[in-house]
Amino acid sequence: GLQQERTDWLAVAVRAAAAGAAVIRDAAPDIRNLDWRSKGPTDFVSEVDLAAEAAILAVMGEGVPRATVLAEESAASVPRELLEHGVAIVVDPLDGTTNFLHGYPEYAVSIAILVDGEPVVGVVHDVPGDEVFTARAGGGAQLNGQPIRVSDITDPQRALIGTGFPFRDPNDIDPYHRQMAAVMAHVSGVRRPGAASIDLASVACGRFDGFWEMMLSPWDFAAGMLLVREAGGRATDMSGAHLTAFGPSAVLAGNPAMHRWLQNRLNQSLRTN
Ligand code: IPD
Ligand code: CA
Ligand code: CA
Ligand code: CA
Repeated sequence: GLQQERTDWLAVAVRAAAAGAAVIRDAAPDIRNLDWRSKGPTDFVSEVDLAAEAAILAVMGEGVPRATVLAEESAASVPRELLEHGVAIVVDPLDGTTNFLHGYPEYAVSIAILVDGEPVVGVVHDVPGDEVFTARAGGGAQLNGQPIRVSDITDPQRALIGTGFPFRDPNDIDPYHRQMAAVMAHVSGVRRPGAASIDLASVACGRFDGFWEMMLSPWDFAAGMLLVREAGGRATDMSGAHLTAFGPSAVLAGNPAMHRWLQNRLNQSLRTN
């Protein structure tokens, strides 16, 4: 039945992520010889991203045939209607490219499967950390096969919060500074590790109590949002509304208490001067 099919899909996504991770791991010792192709003044992609994506899509194409493919490096714009209906695969072959290119050990493969627009399978494979986060809708979230839960910290002063900086558009920086000012003095710490899929996985397993980032693409968060939800947390847009993996979005995640606190604080900071 349906559950069996999704269990099979999860196994396929785990294998595909491992195939991508192997490409990345093999290339890691040789980063100084890589070509950086420019996607924007401060935004790069390497041949490793492309090779990992090809390896992932080969496995996914066999295990989940006839699905719509949304993948950062080879199929980044797909009409919304195609993602809203039927089966779609959402792939970030190397999340944290900047980290990878610098040898900073925080990057992952992220794969989600959507049915009628909703993630039903999610895998985040942290390559240097050798950690595989998995989730199936209704089936909970796991880290290397062991069930995970969001944290139960409700006191902001005890909270560790993850975030991502806006780095593509200078216009995004000022409102972000206001958000940061509203959060940082009230929590134990704020971290910017540099791979959004792992940030969300970190919320799912309780290392982070909350997370926000103002501009992410579906391949950054489709798998992670399912991890968070299946681990008992919330993953929404900034207003607390349902998050969809059709296009770019802000993402707000956390255990339920810290999600609520962050939502209030962040939105307030943008209203006042
Ligand atoms: C990036 C990372 C980063 C986030 C950026 C993403 P990439 O993904 O997830 O943490 O801040 O917005 O684009 O380009 O390394 O796959
Ligand atoms: Ca990128
Ligand atoms: Ca990414
Ligand atoms: Ca990427």
